[in-house]
Amino acid sequence: MKIGIISGSHRINSQSMRIACWIEKRLTALALTQRNYTLELATANIPLWDEGLWNGDEKWKGIWGKHSQELISCDSFVFVAPEYGGMVPPALKNFFLLCSNQELAHKPALIVGVSAGRSGSYPIVELRSSGYKNTRICYLPDHMIIRDAEKMFLNDEPRDNFEASDRARLDYFLRVLKEYAKALSTVRASGIIDVKNFPNGL
Ligand SMILES: Cc1cc2nc3c(=O)[nH]c(=O)nc-3n(C[C@H](O)[C@H](O)[C@H](O)COP(=O)(O)O)c2cc1C
Repeated sequence: MKIGIISGSHRINSQSMRIACWIEKRLTALALTQRNYTLELATANIPLWDEGLWNGDEKWKGIWGKHSQELISCDSFVFVAPEYGGMVPPALKNFFLLCSNQELAHKPALIVGVSAGRSGSYPIVELRSSGYKNTRICYLPDHMIIRDAEKMFLNDEPRDNFEASDRARLDYFLRVLKEYAKALSTVRASGIIDVKNFPNGL
């Protein structure tokens, strides 16, 4: 079992990446995965999509090829998506454009919205309403919103009952994610997926 964790922030030393690292640690502590792949978009230096990607440009093989292979080998994903101007950051939208019909297709994903304040729901809404058409990613019915992010997941012990509840919920969702990963692997292995005749969704 390999889970890919995508930190969607543009910022170095972001809360999203800190939370992504926390999630990676929990996956190990809960013995849910053998391997993980964490992609920090803030430091990955991935340019904006251009047509060279689809035309087999060597530049893109160097830039995207290694990430693409890592993602293809993942069974499921966690998207840690900070709220920027009531949206997901452009780097995350770009990420979805770069994905072909292989990396994310028919794999489950948990969305984790992040806000420094009391917001954080817009990234959930935006990801649930776009980006899945061609990538065929399958979001879990449940999602997390980490509010007051700078005060969360700092110490071994939660600071209050609200954080304790968020921690328990996150662990539970990660356990559920693993079961969806097992279930959806049978869909991918079924032979029914036909990307030749149906490369894009509607
Ligand atoms: C360009 C930009 C726009 C932001 N817009 C919002 C917003 O609309 N709502 C919100 O709750 N926080 C907003 N924030 C603050 C983030 O919630 C905060 O930076 C938080 O730590 C998550 O982002 P990070 O992962 O980049 O650290 C914004 C931050 C930036 C840098």
